Amino acid sequence: MSFSYVEDVLPGHGALPPRAWYAGSSAASLSLNGDWRFRLSPTADAHDESFAAQGYDAGAWSEVAVPGHWVLQGHGAPIYTNHLYPFPVDPPHVPTENPTGDHLRTFDLPDGWPAEGGATLRFDGVESCARVWLNGTDLGEFKGSRLPHEFTVGHLLKPAGNVLAVRVHQWSAGSYLEDQDQWWLPGIFRDVTLLHRPADCALDFFVHASYDHTAGTGALRVDSDADGRITVPELGVDAATGETVTVPVEPWTAETPRLYTGTLDTGGERVPLRVGFRTVELSDGLIKVNGTPVLFKGVNRHEWHPEHGRALDPATMRRDVELMKRHHINAVRTSHYPPHPAFLDLCDEYGLWVIDECDLETHGFVEQGWRDNPVDDDRWTPALLDRAARMVERDKNHPSVVLWSLGNEAGTGRGLTAMAEWIRGRDPERLVHYEGDLDCRDTDVYSRMYADHAEVERIGRGLDGGPARRRALPFILCEYAHAMGNGPGGLADYQRLFETHDRLQGAFVWEWIDHGIADERYGYAYGGDFGEELHDGNFVCDGLVFPDRTPSPGLTEFKKVIEPVRIDVDAPAGTVRITNRYDFRDLSGLAFSWAYEVEGEAVEAGSLVVPPLAPGEHAEVKLPATPADGRGKETQWTVRAIDADDHEVAWGQAVADPATVRTEAFGGRPVRGQGSIALGPAEFDARTGELRRLGGVEVVSPLLDVWRAPTDNDNGASWQGGERLGLLWRQFGLHRMRHRLVGVEPGDDALTVRTRVAPAGRDIGLRAVYRWIADADRLRLTVSVRPEGDWRLPLPRLGIRLGLPGGADAVRWFGGGPGEAYPDTRAASRVGLWHSDVDALQTPYVRPQENGARADVRWAETGGLRIDGEPDFSLTARRWTSEQLDAAEHLTDLTPTGTVWLNLDHAQQGIGSQSCGPGVLPQYRLTPGPAEFSFTFRELTS
Ligand code: GAL
Repeated sequence: MSFSYVEDVLPGHGALPPRAWYAGSSAASLSLNGDWRFRLSPTADAHDESFAAQGYDAGAWSEVAVPGHWVLQGHGAPIYTNHLYPFPVDPPHVPTENPTGDHLRTFDLPDGWPAEGGATLRFDGVESCARVWLNGTDLGEFKGSRLPHEFTVGHLLKPAGNVLAVRVHQWSAGSYLEDQDQWWLPGIFRDVTLLHRPADCALDFFVHASYDHTAGTGALRVDSDADGRITVPELGVDAATGETVTVPVEPWTAETPRLYTGTLDTGGERVPLRVGFRTVELSDGLIKVNGTPVLFKGVNRHEWHPEHGRALDPATMRRDVELMKRHHINAVRTSHYPPHPAFLDLCDEYGLWVIDECDLETHGFVEQGWRDNPVDDDRWTPALLDRAARMVERDKNHPSVVLWSLGNEAGTGRGLTAMAEWIRGRDPERLVHYEGDLDCRDTDVYSRMYADHAEVERIGRGLDGGPARRRALPFILCEYAHAMGNGPGGLADYQRLFETHDRLQGAFVWEWIDHGIADERYGYAYGGDFGEELHDGNFVCDGLVFPDRTPSPGLTEFKKVIEPVRIDVDAPAGTVRITNRYDFRDLSGLAFSWAYEVEGEAVEAGSLVVPPLAPGEHAEVKLPATPADGRGKETQWTVRAIDADDHEVAWGQAVADPATVRTEAFGGRPVRGQGSIALGPAEFDARTGELRRLGGVEVVSPLLDVWRAPTDNDNGASWQGGERLGLLWRQFGLHRMRHRLVGVEPGDDALTVRTRVAPAGRDIGLRAVYRWIADADRLRLTVSVRPEGDWRLPLPRLGIRLGLPGGADAVRWFGGGPGEAYPDTRAASRVGLWHSDVDALQTPYVRPQENGARADVRWAETGGLRIDGEPDFSLTARRWTSEQLDAAEHLTDLTPTGTVWLNLDHAQQGIGSQSCGPGVLPQYRLTPGPAEFSFTFRELTS
């Protein structure tokens, strides 16, 4: 028995040539998904092939669900590495310890399965190498995990008792081409289907549907290996295959995904077609669709489900697309492999521009300076070409696919050039993308990842130099805004650049979803949780949605930053400027409304007449006369755009009148008692100057606080230059600041407490003076801070922390909300009157870290206290301390302490995206300097 195919660089043998993928044809089909018998072996050669013979008794085997990954079904364990191969780099060899899953299922042909004709067996995805037998006959073997493979099987089928045997090896030569940053998850993870092939069935076919934007016509031609007729009843099209028909049509775009339903009839089979007319071209140095340059507001999407890994059900795929559309995302890069083909059907239907990426990454070779890189070694070129062809042939009939991507992070080499040439020859009607070649030898777009704002601006202005070919190309960031943990920061700043410079045609957030694995021990597991000897921790959790697809604050922020209508309210002028930021749609489908709010509550509202602006146009629209008197309270205008489904598409807001500041004096006088000092409604410790209670509310005294549990972006990635603040902060001891009491000074009208706050081992410190004043029911604290020493680093935060030992549950605040916001992630935060409970204020980042701050808070009520800030503050409330949050590795490590801890921050350091990308922009940096801020506390009387 030979296992040499496992380490063979060639893609395999026995499979049919690739062709277009489709579902729903008139030919019969049988899904072979379901429970399969399963046996796991530690090596490729542990068992001979006798299990594939008819009559083999697999009664003692266990079972796995197909599609699925055996490591997520109790057999072995997943491994997470970013770019390192989890085995020695010794191509094309793989370890002797090569988990091998034998899969077996029997099936009968359903009633009515035609007696005539042949049959094809299709595997839509198997990781990483499979060998297949039907009824004891060896069909062949294949590699290319996220690509389809078909075998001719009609001659082997029996009406009943067919035995399908599939041997799957976790590691193969193909693994060297699949070093994407994700979990290694072996198994038959996509559908297995038996397709009846009638006489005169459809073979391969290529739908060419272009759009002439000057004439308003579409040209349709379907090239088909089997002759037949094409009908599109709505267009009156009835043509032979190979014939071109030109008719007036509505074009397909991601904003207007107009599809025409048609049929390809080859005599023996009718195949449903969904035709979208559109033309993609590179012209004037820009990517244009139907003559118009497009702006990608994209995400990178890996296939992920927290229980099923990359085995995605149709409902989950639809959920992704619906969530994307609802958040204004208009583009997807299928990082880093062709997705399940049904996902592309959804992209056609809902409208998303797709960069379809080939299943190719050899990133681990970077460790040896790319020596032996398969993409620059002719022996591997057949495998690369096979992958390119399987992607292009499978997906070529999707109007949503506008660019082909050769792969990801595979260095440079002749193999890539060969792929690009083959793709251009086969499909000259789309563009080619690849990020890894700075010279853009093989690509139609200059693509980069994680370039910082300044560089992107230079590129936008054409000041980046570089080879002539590249200078003539449009630019995209195929990855940016690393959405790991809290963040990404700086999205709005990028978007401004994209909208300012034509050459910048948008970007794709890294990435869509956190790949956390549902796990009883941890809630969600990440790298290292399965005892992997090499792993990259929680770097696999860097998405805009949590593993269960709950949107993270990052997605809410992204939605706001890319919203297709811009609404700028100019309160003093009483006008709103509305700008249409769509590329293709006018605004006729939207309804606009205004509301006038007094302290967050709408007191009057109405609709606003906005002309049906064309893409790029704007208009000034008058607001009504200021409706009501706010009686000293803050008032705002909020203007919204709503679509026909009642979804909010865009909003804008401006303060109409700020609140009037109360000017009565706080006349209270500190009074010394037994070990305490009374001031207004408050009681202090006379020795320490610490606040003990306010009326009936017990408190753990407010103290200056500068620490936050570092975010993934604070920590930064090890391979990046620049400051890694999370580490620097620890090095300087900001997580263990000590408070030295300098003096407690009760005066005539104030209690003053002087302190110096500093870490052991350093000379840097912060002088903090707390000045307390009061009247009968209000207590006001003014904190003055003065840094001392050579502060070379920004502060994580600057504010006070106090505890409510009696607990707190409900929180009500007037200020920014409803969600989390930090200085560079606050576009989506709008001023309003918000309610939450303490638990709901927490953002459940898979690895715990600073989270949940609400920005621009004017006042808040919780735990029996009302707190007014002057100026506005940032509010955080949690049932554990920052230190506990910092120590936690998983959400399950966080246990409530009984006390609710409030951080009232005058300022916070921005977030940035240095977990893989640029740090915090200078304007969002919290540089130590003299500061003063106040809070007024009052006990709430119910
Ligand atoms: C990129 C890579 C992605 C992912 C990302 C960081 O370099 O293409 O696959 O690793 O960095 O999360």
